Amino acid sequence: MATRTTREVPTSRVAELIAGEEEKFRRARPRSKKLWTEAREVLPRGVPSSFQDAAPQPVFMERGHGSRVWDVDGNEYVDFHNGFGVMVVGHAHPKIVEAVSRQIGLGSHFAQPVEDGVIVARELARRFLQPKWRFTNSGTESTLDAVRIARGFTGRERLIKIEASYHGHHDALMVSVEPPPDLMGAADAPASVPQSEGIPAAIVELTTVVPFNNLPALEKTLAHHRGEVAAIIVEPAMMNLGIVLPDAGYLAAIKEMAHSHGALLIFDEVKTGVTISPGGATERFGVTPDLVALAKAIGGGLPCGAVGGRDDVMGVIESKRVAQMGTFNGNPLTMAASKVTLLEILNASAYSHFDALAETLQGGLDETIAEHELPCHVITLSARGGVTYRASRVRNYRDYLETDKALAYLSWLYQCNRGVIMAPGAEENWTLSVQHSVEDVQHYVDNFAEMAKDLRS
Ligand SMILES: Cc1ncc(COP(=O)(O)O)c(C=O)c1O
Repeated sequence: MATRTTREVPTSRVAELIAGEEEKFRRARPRSKKLWTEAREVLPRGVPSSFQDAAPQPVFMERGHGSRVWDVDGNEYVDFHNGFGVMVVGHAHPKIVEAVSRQIGLGSHFAQPVEDGVIVARELARRFLQPKWRFTNSGTESTLDAVRIARGFTGRERLIKIEASYHGHHDALMVSVEPPPDLMGAADAPASVPQSEGIPAAIVELTTVVPFNNLPALEKTLAHHRGEVAAIIVEPAMMNLGIVLPDAGYLAAIKEMAHSHGALLIFDEVKTGVTISPGGATERFGVTPDLVALAKAIGGGLPCGAVGGRDDVMGVIESKRVAQMGTFNGNPLTMAASKVTLLEILNASAYSHFDALAETLQGGLDETIAEHELPCHVITLSARGGVTYRASRVRNYRDYLETDKALAYLSWLYQCNRGVIMAPGAEENWTLSVQHSVEDVQHYVDNFAEMAKDLRS
Protein backbone atom coordinates (compact mmCIF):
# COMPACT_ATOMS: atom_id res chain seq x y z
CA MET A 1 0.00 0.00 0.00
CA ALA A 2 1.45 3.38 -0.99
CA THR A 3 1.86 5.94 1.78
CA ARG A 4 -0.96 8.44 1.72
CA THR A 5 -1.87 11.54 3.61
CA THR A 6 -4.66 10.98 6.08
CA ARG A 7 -6.37 13.26 8.53
CA GLU A 8 -8.18 12.25 11.69
CA VAL A 9 -11.95 12.26 11.61
CA PRO A 10 -13.28 14.18 14.64
CA THR A 11 -15.10 11.75 16.97
CA SER A 12 -17.72 14.40 17.73
CA ARG A 13 -18.64 14.60 14.03
CA VAL A 14 -18.87 10.80 13.79
CA ALA A 15 -21.09 10.68 16.91
CA GLU A 16 -23.33 13.43 15.53
CA LEU A 17 -23.78 11.63 12.21
CA ILE A 18 -24.41 8.27 13.97
CA ALA A 19 -27.22 9.81 16.04
CA GLY A 20 -28.94 11.14 12.91
CA GLU A 21 -28.50 7.91 10.97
CA GLU A 22 -29.78 5.74 13.84
CA GLU A 23 -32.89 7.88 14.06
CA LYS A 24 -33.44 7.54 10.30
CA PHE A 25 -32.78 3.80 10.48
CA ARG A 26 -35.38 3.22 13.23
CA ARG A 27 -38.02 5.40 11.55
CA ALA A 28 -37.89 3.24 8.42
CA ARG A 29 -38.15 -0.11 10.25
CA PRO A 30 -41.18 -0.19 12.59
CA ARG A 31 -42.22 -3.70 11.63
CA SER A 32 -38.74 -5.11 12.23
CA LYS A 33 -38.85 -3.44 15.65
CA LYS A 34 -42.24 -5.00 16.43
CA LEU A 35 -41.12 -8.48 15.32
CA TRP A 36 -37.93 -8.15 17.32
CA THR A 37 -39.92 -7.22 20.44
CA GLU A 38 -42.17 -10.26 19.94
CA ALA A 39 -39.19 -12.50 19.16
CA ARG A 40 -37.56 -11.63 22.46
CA GLU A 41 -40.43 -13.41 24.22
CA VAL A 42 -39.29 -16.74 22.75
CA LEU A 43 -35.76 -16.28 21.37
CA PRO A 44 -32.92 -14.99 23.60
CA ARG A 45 -31.94 -11.55 22.23
CA GLY A 46 -34.77 -11.98 19.71
CA VAL A 47 -32.66 -13.79 17.13
CA PRO A 48 -31.85 -17.38 16.13
CA SER A 49 -28.06 -16.78 16.24
CA SER A 50 -26.35 -14.16 18.43
CA PHE A 51 -24.51 -12.83 15.36
CA GLN A 52 -27.87 -11.60 14.05
CA ASP A 53 -28.40 -9.24 16.98
CA ALA A 54 -26.59 -6.10 15.90
CA ALA A 55 -27.13 -2.41 16.71
CA PRO A 56 -29.33 -0.50 16.29
CA GLN A 57 -31.69 -3.51 15.92
CA PRO A 58 -31.96 -6.62 13.73
CA VAL A 59 -33.47 -6.19 10.27
CA PHE A 60 -36.10 -8.87 9.62
CA MET A 61 -36.05 -10.05 6.02
CA GLU A 62 -38.88 -11.03 3.73
CA ARG A 63 -37.40 -12.12 0.43
CA GLY A 64 -34.45 -12.00 -1.93
CA HIS A 65 -34.07 -11.95 -5.70
CA GLY A 66 -30.89 -11.60 -7.75
CA SER A 67 -28.58 -9.09 -6.06
CA ARG A 68 -31.41 -7.65 -3.92
CA VAL A 69 -33.21 -8.35 -0.66
CA TRP A 70 -36.34 -6.76 0.83
CA ASP A 71 -37.03 -6.39 4.54
CA VAL A 72 -40.41 -6.72 6.26
CA ASP A 73 -40.88 -2.93 6.12
CA GLY A 74 -40.57 -2.99 2.33
CA ASN A 75 -37.04 -1.48 2.24
CA GLU A 76 -35.05 -2.70 -0.76
CA TYR A 77 -31.31 -3.32 -0.53
CA VAL A 78 -28.44 -4.33 -2.75
CA ASP A 79 -27.20 -7.30 -0.76
CA PHE A 80 -23.54 -6.96 0.25
CA HIS A 81 -24.18 -9.11 3.35
CA ASN A 82 -25.17 -12.14 1.31
CA GLY A 83 -25.91 -14.25 4.34
CA PHE A 84 -22.45 -13.89 5.95
CA GLY A 85 -20.62 -14.90 2.81
CA VAL A 86 -22.87 -17.66 1.54
CA MET A 87 -24.88 -16.27 -1.38
CA VAL A 88 -22.26 -15.84 -4.11
CA VAL A 89 -24.86 -17.33 -6.46
CA GLY A 90 -27.23 -14.45 -5.59
CA HIS A 91 -30.82 -14.96 -4.46
CA ALA A 92 -33.25 -17.33 -6.14
CA HIS A 93 -30.79 -18.12 -8.92
CA PRO A 94 -32.88 -19.90 -11.59
CA LYS A 95 -30.47 -22.85 -11.73
CA ILE A 96 -30.61 -23.34 -7.94
CA VAL A 97 -34.40 -22.98 -7.90
CA GLU A 98 -34.64 -25.57 -10.64
CA ALA A 99 -32.23 -28.04 -9.05
CA VAL A 100 -33.69 -27.83 -5.55
CA SER A 101 -37.31 -27.90 -6.76
CA ARG A 102 -36.56 -30.93 -8.87
CA GLN A 103 -34.87 -32.75 -6.00
CA ILE A 104 -37.51 -31.90 -3.41
CA GLY A 105 -40.08 -33.49 -5.69
CA LEU A 106 -37.96 -36.62 -5.63
CA GLY A 107 -37.48 -36.66 -1.87
CA SER A 108 -35.61 -34.29 0.42
CA HIS A 109 -33.75 -36.62 2.75
CA PHE A 110 -32.67 -40.25 2.83
CA ALA A 111 -29.51 -40.39 4.99
CA GLN A 112 -28.16 -42.67 2.28
CA PRO A 113 -25.50 -41.64 -0.25
CA VAL A 114 -26.60 -39.97 -3.51
CA GLU A 115 -24.80 -39.67 -6.84
CA ASP A 116 -24.59 -35.87 -6.65
CA GLY A 117 -22.41 -36.23 -3.55
CA VAL A 118 -19.77 -38.07 -5.56
CA ILE A 119 -19.81 -35.38 -8.24
CA VAL A 120 -19.47 -32.60 -5.65
CA ALA A 121 -16.61 -34.36 -3.86
CA ARG A 122 -14.77 -34.81 -7.19
CA GLU A 123 -15.16 -31.12 -7.98
CA LEU A 124 -13.90 -30.10 -4.53
CA ALA A 125 -10.95 -32.47 -4.99
CA ARG A 126 -10.15 -30.79 -8.30
CA ARG A 127 -10.39 -27.26 -6.92
CA PHE A 128 -8.67 -27.75 -3.55
CA LEU A 129 -6.12 -30.42 -4.50
CA GLN A 130 -7.27 -32.70 -1.68
CA PRO A 131 -8.10 -36.27 -2.72
CA LYS A 132 -10.59 -37.26 0.00
CA TRP A 133 -13.73 -35.51 1.29
CA ARG A 134 -16.53 -35.83 3.80
CA PHE A 135 -19.60 -33.59 4.06
CA THR A 136 -20.92 -31.67 7.07
CA ASN A 137 -23.68 -29.10 7.56
CA SER A 138 -21.79 -25.99 8.68
CA GLY A 139 -18.39 -24.41 9.05
CA THR A 140 -18.41 -25.28 12.72
CA GLU A 141 -18.80 -28.97 11.95
CA SER A 142 -16.11 -28.80 9.26
CA THR A 143 -13.45 -27.36 11.59
CA LEU A 144 -14.59 -29.65 14.42
CA ASP A 145 -14.08 -32.66 12.16
CA ALA A 146 -10.77 -31.35 10.81
CA VAL A 147 -9.47 -31.00 14.35
CA ARG A 148 -10.59 -34.49 15.35
CA ILE A 149 -9.06 -36.02 12.22
CA ALA A 150 -5.77 -34.21 12.89
CA ARG A 151 -5.75 -35.35 16.50
CA GLY A 152 -6.55 -38.93 15.48
CA PHE A 153 -3.91 -38.98 12.76
CA THR A 154 -1.10 -37.54 14.88
CA GLY A 155 -2.12 -39.08 18.21
CA ARG A 156 -1.60 -35.63 19.77
CA GLU A 157 -4.05 -33.28 21.48
CA ARG A 158 -2.74 -29.72 21.37
CA LEU A 159 -3.95 -27.22 18.79
CA ILE A 160 -2.38 -23.96 17.74
CA LYS A 161 -4.75 -21.28 16.56
CA ILE A 162 -4.33 -17.66 15.58
CA GLU A 163 -5.40 -14.90 17.93
CA ALA A 164 -8.84 -13.60 16.84
CA SER A 165 -9.47 -16.19 14.16
CA TYR A 166 -13.02 -17.53 14.22
CA HIS A 167 -13.55 -21.15 13.29
CA GLY A 168 -17.13 -21.71 14.44
CA HIS A 169 -18.66 -22.21 17.85
CA HIS A 170 -17.33 -25.54 19.13
CA ASP A 171 -15.32 -25.58 22.37
CA ALA A 172 -11.83 -26.39 21.06
CA LEU A 173 -11.64 -23.27 18.87
CA MET A 174 -13.81 -20.78 20.77
CA VAL A 175 -10.60 -19.57 22.31
CA SER A 176 -9.27 -16.00 21.98
CA VAL A 177 -11.72 -15.14 19.21
CA GLU A 178 -12.09 -11.57 20.44
CA PRO A 179 -10.16 -11.51 23.71
CA PRO A 180 -10.62 -8.38 25.85
CA PRO A 181 -7.44 -6.26 26.10
CA ASP A 182 -7.12 -6.82 29.85
CA LEU A 183 -7.00 -10.62 29.39
CA MET A 184 -5.32 -11.06 26.02
CA GLY A 185 -1.74 -11.22 27.25
CA ALA A 186 1.46 -10.24 25.46
CA ALA A 187 1.35 -9.49 21.72
CA ASP A 188 3.92 -12.18 20.87
CA ALA A 189 2.58 -14.76 23.37
CA PRO A 190 -1.18 -14.24 23.62
CA ALA A 191 -3.18 -15.86 26.41
CA SER A 192 -5.81 -18.56 25.69
CA VAL A 193 -9.06 -16.85 26.62
CA PRO A 194 -12.40 -18.70 26.41
CA GLN A 195 -14.81 -16.74 24.23
CA SER A 196 -17.81 -17.66 26.30
CA GLU A 197 -18.84 -19.16 29.59
CA GLY A 198 -19.63 -22.87 29.35
CA ILE A 199 -16.30 -23.83 27.76
CA PRO A 200 -14.29 -26.16 30.05
CA ALA A 201 -10.89 -24.84 31.17
CA ALA A 202 -9.38 -28.26 30.37
CA ILE A 203 -10.33 -27.77 26.70
CA VAL A 204 -9.07 -24.19 26.59
CA GLU A 205 -5.75 -25.34 28.01
CA LEU A 206 -5.24 -27.55 24.93
CA THR A 207 -5.48 -24.60 22.53
CA THR A 208 -2.41 -22.40 22.30
CA VAL A 209 -2.79 -19.02 20.66
CA VAL A 210 -0.27 -17.24 18.43
CA PRO A 211 -0.38 -13.91 16.56
CA PHE A 212 -1.02 -13.96 12.78
CA ASN A 213 1.92 -13.17 10.50
CA ASN A 214 4.49 -13.83 13.23
CA LEU A 215 6.80 -16.73 12.40
CA PRO A 216 9.24 -16.37 15.35
CA ALA A 217 6.32 -16.55 17.84
CA LEU A 218 5.02 -19.69 16.12
CA GLU A 219 8.44 -21.34 16.08
CA LYS A 220 8.86 -20.59 19.78
CA THR A 221 5.43 -22.04 20.58
CA LEU A 222 6.11 -25.21 18.59
CA ALA A 223 9.44 -25.65 20.36
CA HIS A 224 7.86 -25.06 23.76
CA HIS A 225 5.21 -27.72 23.05
CA ARG A 226 7.52 -30.09 21.18
CA GLY A 227 5.82 -33.40 20.37
CA GLU A 228 2.40 -32.18 21.58
CA VAL A 229 0.91 -30.26 18.64
CA ALA A 230 -1.60 -32.06 16.41
CA ALA A 231 -2.36 -29.14 14.11
CA ILE A 232 -2.03 -25.47 13.37
CA ILE A 233 -5.34 -24.10 12.14
CA VAL A 234 -5.52 -20.79 10.28
CA GLU A 235 -7.88 -18.72 8.21
CA PRO A 236 -5.33 -18.29 5.38
CA ALA A 237 -6.66 -14.76 4.86
CA MET A 238 -8.38 -13.72 8.06
CA MET A 239 -11.94 -12.62 7.33
CA ASN A 240 -13.36 -12.04 10.76
CA LEU A 241 -11.16 -8.97 11.43
CA GLY A 242 -12.03 -7.08 8.31
CA ILE A 243 -9.64 -8.77 5.88
CA VAL A 244 -6.11 -9.53 7.03
CA LEU A 245 -3.80 -10.82 4.32
CA PRO A 246 -0.98 -13.24 5.01
CA ASP A 247 2.51 -11.77 4.56
CA ALA A 248 4.32 -13.07 1.47
CA GLY A 249 5.67 -16.53 2.26
CA TYR A 250 3.84 -16.81 5.60
CA LEU A 251 1.53 -19.70 4.67
CA ALA A 252 4.31 -21.75 3.06
CA ALA A 253 6.50 -21.16 6.11
CA ILE A 254 3.88 -22.30 8.63
CA LYS A 255 3.30 -25.44 6.60
CA GLU A 256 7.00 -26.21 6.73
CA MET A 257 7.17 -25.44 10.46
CA ALA A 258 4.14 -27.60 11.21
CA HIS A 259 5.65 -30.52 9.30
CA SER A 260 9.05 -30.16 10.87
CA HIS A 261 7.31 -30.57 14.25
CA GLY A 262 5.17 -33.52 13.13
CA ALA A 263 1.99 -31.41 13.11
CA LEU A 264 -0.60 -30.87 10.38
CA LEU A 265 -1.69 -27.62 8.78
CA ILE A 266 -5.45 -26.98 8.54
CA PHE A 267 -6.83 -24.18 6.36
CA ASP A 268 -10.20 -22.93 7.46
CA GLU A 269 -11.55 -21.88 4.06
CA VAL A 270 -15.13 -21.46 5.25
CA LYS A 271 -15.05 -17.84 4.03
CA THR A 272 -12.28 -17.92 1.42
CA GLY A 273 -13.25 -21.21 -0.26
CA VAL A 274 -14.66 -20.72 -3.78
CA THR A 275 -15.02 -16.95 -3.19
CA ILE A 276 -11.50 -15.53 -3.56
CA SER A 277 -10.68 -17.90 -6.43
CA PRO A 278 -12.15 -21.17 -7.73
CA GLY A 279 -9.89 -23.11 -5.36
CA GLY A 280 -10.03 -20.56 -2.54
CA ALA A 281 -6.92 -19.53 -0.64
CA THR A 282 -5.24 -22.81 -1.53
CA GLU A 283 -5.20 -21.71 -5.16
CA ARG A 284 -4.83 -17.96 -4.63
CA PHE A 285 -1.81 -18.21 -2.32
CA GLY A 286 -0.41 -21.41 -3.83
CA VAL A 287 -0.13 -23.40 -0.59
CA THR A 288 -1.92 -26.73 -0.12
CA PRO A 289 -2.58 -27.62 3.52
CA ASP A 290 -3.03 -31.13 4.94
CA LEU A 291 -6.72 -30.57 5.69
CA VAL A 292 -9.20 -27.97 4.51
CA ALA A 293 -12.53 -26.98 6.06
CA LEU A 294 -15.24 -25.57 3.78
CA ALA A 295 -18.86 -24.42 4.16
CA LYS A 296 -20.89 -21.30 3.30
CA ALA A 297 -20.59 -20.57 -0.46
CA ILE A 298 -20.10 -24.17 -1.61
CA GLY A 299 -23.78 -24.99 -0.94
CA GLY A 300 -25.53 -22.32 -3.02
CA GLY A 301 -27.58 -21.20 0.02
CA LEU A 302 -28.34 -24.53 1.66
CA PRO A 303 -26.78 -25.54 4.99
CA CYS A 304 -23.57 -27.26 4.03
CA GLY A 305 -19.98 -28.00 4.83
CA ALA A 306 -17.12 -30.24 3.81
CA VAL A 307 -13.77 -31.35 5.11
CA GLY A 308 -11.10 -32.48 2.68
CA GLY A 309 -7.62 -33.82 3.16
CA ARG A 310 -4.64 -35.90 2.21
CA ASP A 311 -5.21 -39.58 1.45
CA ASP A 312 -3.24 -40.80 4.46
CA VAL A 313 -4.76 -38.23 6.81
CA MET A 314 -8.36 -38.95 5.78
CA GLY A 315 -7.39 -42.60 6.01
CA VAL A 316 -8.20 -42.41 9.74
CA ILE A 317 -11.88 -42.30 8.74
CA GLU A 318 -11.44 -45.19 6.30
CA SER A 319 -9.85 -47.32 9.03
CA LYS A 320 -12.52 -46.25 11.56
CA ARG A 321 -9.91 -44.80 13.90
CA VAL A 322 -11.77 -41.47 13.75
CA ALA A 323 -15.55 -41.05 13.72
CA GLN A 324 -17.03 -38.59 11.23
CA MET A 325 -20.79 -38.65 10.82
CA GLY A 326 -24.08 -36.72 10.76
CA THR A 327 -27.70 -37.41 9.83
CA PHE A 328 -27.77 -34.63 7.24
CA ASN A 329 -24.27 -35.10 5.79
CA GLY A 330 -24.51 -35.23 2.00
CA ASN A 331 -28.23 -34.41 2.07
CA PRO A 332 -29.72 -34.68 -1.45
CA LEU A 333 -31.06 -31.10 -1.54
CA THR A 334 -27.70 -29.70 -0.43
CA MET A 335 -25.83 -31.87 -2.91
CA ALA A 336 -28.16 -30.83 -5.77
CA ALA A 337 -27.61 -27.15 -4.95
CA SER A 338 -23.88 -27.63 -4.46
CA LYS A 339 -23.46 -29.48 -7.77
CA VAL A 340 -25.14 -26.69 -9.72
CA THR A 341 -23.24 -24.02 -7.78
CA LEU A 342 -19.84 -25.55 -8.43
CA LEU A 343 -20.31 -26.97 -11.92
CA GLU A 344 -22.67 -24.50 -13.59
CA ILE A 345 -22.68 -21.16 -11.75
CA LEU A 346 -19.21 -20.57 -10.32
CA ASN A 347 -17.45 -21.03 -13.66
CA ALA A 348 -14.55 -19.05 -15.10
CA SER A 349 -16.79 -16.20 -16.22
CA ALA A 350 -18.22 -15.87 -12.70
CA TYR A 351 -14.72 -15.21 -11.34
CA SER A 352 -13.97 -12.69 -14.13
CA HIS A 353 -17.22 -10.97 -13.17
CA PHE A 354 -16.22 -10.84 -9.47
CA ASP A 355 -12.83 -9.41 -10.43
CA ALA A 356 -14.42 -6.71 -12.58
CA LEU A 357 -16.80 -5.73 -9.75
CA ALA A 358 -13.90 -5.72 -7.29
CA GLU A 359 -11.99 -3.36 -9.57
CA THR A 360 -14.89 -0.90 -9.66
CA LEU A 361 -15.15 -1.01 -5.87
CA GLN A 362 -11.41 -0.70 -5.27
CA GLY A 363 -11.00 2.16 -7.76
CA GLY A 364 -14.04 4.14 -6.63
CA LEU A 365 -13.39 3.76 -2.92
CA ASP A 366 -9.66 4.47 -3.20
CA GLU A 367 -10.48 7.72 -5.02
CA THR A 368 -12.87 8.88 -2.29
CA ILE A 369 -10.48 7.88 0.49
CA ALA A 370 -7.65 9.82 -1.16
CA GLU A 371 -9.80 12.87 -1.90
CA HIS A 372 -11.02 13.14 1.70
CA GLU A 373 -7.79 11.89 3.28
CA LEU A 374 -9.70 9.31 5.29
CA PRO A 375 -7.85 7.00 7.69
CA CYS A 376 -9.03 3.77 6.09
CA HIS A 377 -8.15 1.38 3.27
CA VAL A 378 -9.76 -1.13 0.96
CA ILE A 379 -8.93 -4.77 0.32
CA THR A 380 -10.62 -6.73 -2.46
CA LEU A 381 -10.21 -10.43 -3.21
CA SER A 382 -12.55 -11.34 -6.05
CA ALA A 383 -16.02 -11.89 -4.49
CA ARG A 384 -14.85 -10.71 -1.06
CA GLY A 385 -13.67 -7.36 0.14
CA GLY A 386 -14.11 -4.58 2.61
CA VAL A 387 -13.07 -1.23 3.98
CA THR A 388 -10.89 -1.33 7.09
CA TYR A 389 -11.08 1.81 9.21
CA ARG A 390 -7.38 2.13 9.94
CA ALA A 391 -4.97 4.08 7.75
CA SER A 392 -2.36 1.35 7.48
CA ARG A 393 -2.63 -2.35 6.83
CA VAL A 394 -3.78 -4.66 9.63
CA ARG A 395 -1.42 -7.64 10.12
CA ASN A 396 -2.89 -9.14 13.29
CA TYR A 397 -5.44 -8.72 16.08
CA ARG A 398 -3.46 -6.06 17.92
CA ASP A 399 -3.47 -3.86 14.81
CA TYR A 400 -7.18 -4.53 14.37
CA LEU A 401 -7.86 -3.17 17.87
CA GLU A 402 -6.77 0.21 16.50
CA THR A 403 -9.50 0.30 13.85
CA ASP A 404 -12.11 3.00 14.27
CA LYS A 405 -15.21 0.99 15.28
CA ALA A 406 -17.43 4.09 15.42
CA LEU A 407 -16.56 5.00 11.83
CA ALA A 408 -17.19 1.40 10.74
CA TYR A 409 -20.61 1.51 12.41
CA LEU A 410 -21.41 4.86 10.78
CA SER A 411 -20.51 3.40 7.40
CA TRP A 412 -22.84 0.43 8.02
CA LEU A 413 -25.69 2.82 8.88
CA TYR A 414 -25.03 5.01 5.82
CA GLN A 415 -25.14 2.00 3.53
CA CYS A 416 -28.22 0.49 5.16
CA ASN A 417 -30.13 3.80 5.08
CA ARG A 418 -29.26 4.22 1.41
CA GLY A 419 -30.16 0.83 0.03
CA VAL A 420 -27.12 -1.40 0.61
CA ILE A 421 -27.12 -3.96 3.39
CA MET A 422 -23.80 -5.14 4.81
CA ALA A 423 -23.01 -7.75 7.41
CA PRO A 424 -22.88 -5.83 10.70
CA GLY A 425 -19.71 -5.26 12.71
CA ALA A 426 -16.32 -3.61 12.08
CA GLU A 427 -14.86 -7.09 11.62
CA GLU A 428 -17.14 -7.95 8.70
CA ASN A 429 -16.71 -7.45 4.98
CA TRP A 430 -18.76 -7.76 1.82
CA THR A 431 -19.64 -10.70 -0.38
CA LEU A 432 -20.57 -10.17 -4.02
CA SER A 433 -22.66 -12.50 -6.14
CA VAL A 434 -22.76 -13.50 -9.80
CA GLN A 435 -26.01 -11.53 -9.99
CA HIS A 436 -24.51 -8.22 -8.85
CA SER A 437 -24.05 -5.59 -11.54
CA VAL A 438 -21.60 -2.71 -11.90
CA GLU A 439 -24.50 -0.39 -10.97
CA ASP A 440 -25.02 -2.37 -7.75
CA VAL A 441 -21.44 -1.94 -6.63
CA GLN A 442 -21.38 1.70 -7.77
CA HIS A 443 -24.29 2.21 -5.36
CA TYR A 444 -21.96 1.21 -2.49
CA VAL A 445 -19.22 3.53 -3.80
CA ASP A 446 -21.66 6.46 -4.07
CA ASN A 447 -22.98 5.93 -0.54
CA PHE A 448 -19.42 5.82 0.76
CA ALA A 449 -18.62 9.08 -1.06
CA GLU A 450 -21.66 10.73 0.52
CA MET A 451 -20.48 9.68 3.97
CA ALA A 452 -16.97 10.97 3.26
CA LYS A 453 -18.34 14.34 2.17
CA ASP A 454 -20.55 14.60 5.27
CA LEU A 455 -17.65 13.65 7.54
CA ARG A 456 -15.58 16.51 6.17
CA SER A 457 -18.35 19.13 5.97
C1 LIG B 1 -13.64 -18.70 8.98
C2 LIG B 1 -14.88 -19.31 9.56
N1 LIG B 1 -14.86 -20.58 9.99
C3 LIG B 1 -15.95 -21.20 10.50
C4 LIG B 1 -17.13 -20.51 10.61
C5 LIG B 1 -18.33 -21.19 11.18
O1 LIG B 1 -19.25 -21.47 10.17
P1 LIG B 1 -20.77 -21.77 10.55
O2 LIG B 1 -21.36 -20.48 11.01
O3 LIG B 1 -21.34 -22.28 9.25
O4 LIG B 1 -20.77 -22.81 11.60
C6 LIG B 1 -17.21 -19.17 10.18
C7 LIG B 1 -18.47 -18.43 10.28
O5 LIG B 1 -18.57 -17.27 9.99
C8 LIG B 1 -16.06 -18.56 9.67
O6 LIG B 1 -16.05 -17.29 9.27
